[in-house]
Amino acid sequence: MPVSGAIAVTDDGAVRIIRINRPEKKNALTVAMYAEMACALREAGQNEAIRCVMFAGAAGVFSAGNDIADFLNSSDAGLNAPVLEFLRALAQSPKPIVAAVGGIAVGVGTTMLFHCDHVVAASDAVLSTPFLKLGLIPEAASTLVAPMRMGHARAFSLLVMGRPLPAADAKEAGLVNTVVEAAEVDAVALRAAREIAALPPKAVAVARSLMRNRLGEVAERIDAEAKHFAELLQSDEARAAFQAFFARKK
Ligand code: COA
Repeated sequence: MPVSGAIAVTDDGAVRIIRINRPEKKNALTVAMYAEMACALREAGQNEAIRCVMFAGAAGVFSAGNDIADFLNSSDAGLNAPVLEFLRALAQSPKPIVAAVGGIAVGVGTTMLFHCDHVVAASDAVLSTPFLKLGLIPEAASTLVAPMRMGHARAFSLLVMGRPLPAADAKEAGLVNTVVEAAEVDAVALRAAREIAALPPKAVAVARSLMRNRLGEVAERIDAEAKHFAELLQSDEARAAFQAFFARKK
């Protein structure tokens, strides 16, 4: 497996920390990074010593979403693409997941949060999903879970209209638990992850699986969205939008 060098996986006691660390590209996620995150998540699921997983970003950015260069270069990797392996591992994780959102969260950087159990965000963090503006559709089963979590109106504004959701509004919408100063995000999230990890693991697993009882539906939606997404990736309007992104500073 190619190693990106941009995903740091460390275990802090029973908490597995998966840190996205590609600040020079605003933590945009490449194919290799998805594969590494999927692997770290799957391994955490099977590792009895790990009781909670925490995602974190770097340097004021959680993630600028999928690497747009990868979008441009994408051939049809279909349903075996690393991004889908990551999304499935995320949705099916048997271990609770905490996220420390220390800044910008775009695209999958936002939709992955719908699969987290506890989200801490910086007061200046902004969530956004500009899928439609790129000629794409929302992914990660967000078309299913976002309306469930925040209601259709707010989900439509975020997912379809692409309106940014500041941290305070994301908290009000039920996607974020706690909003703190940017410098505190990682520490507050780690405290929550340790708190979860200290609970009796079998009881946590049962309670959590009862609360997340639509796994089959979520898995089907990830695949259904992915089929449309793969088609749209090759569309003229999407490819023009990707090229416009890279041409914007010229
Ligand atoms: N894919 C590939 N490269 C990306 C990227 C992405 N999703 N997001 C940022 N980058 C790169 C930029 O091209 C730039 O690279 P360069 O220095 O080689 O030119 C670098 O990261 C810094 O980005 P920049 O745009 O200069 O930073 P900013 O602070 O002005 O803006 C964002 C940050 C995240 C708002 C902006 O980069 C952005 O809109 N990115 C695209 C987000 C997106 O649409 N993601 C896909 C969602 S489906």
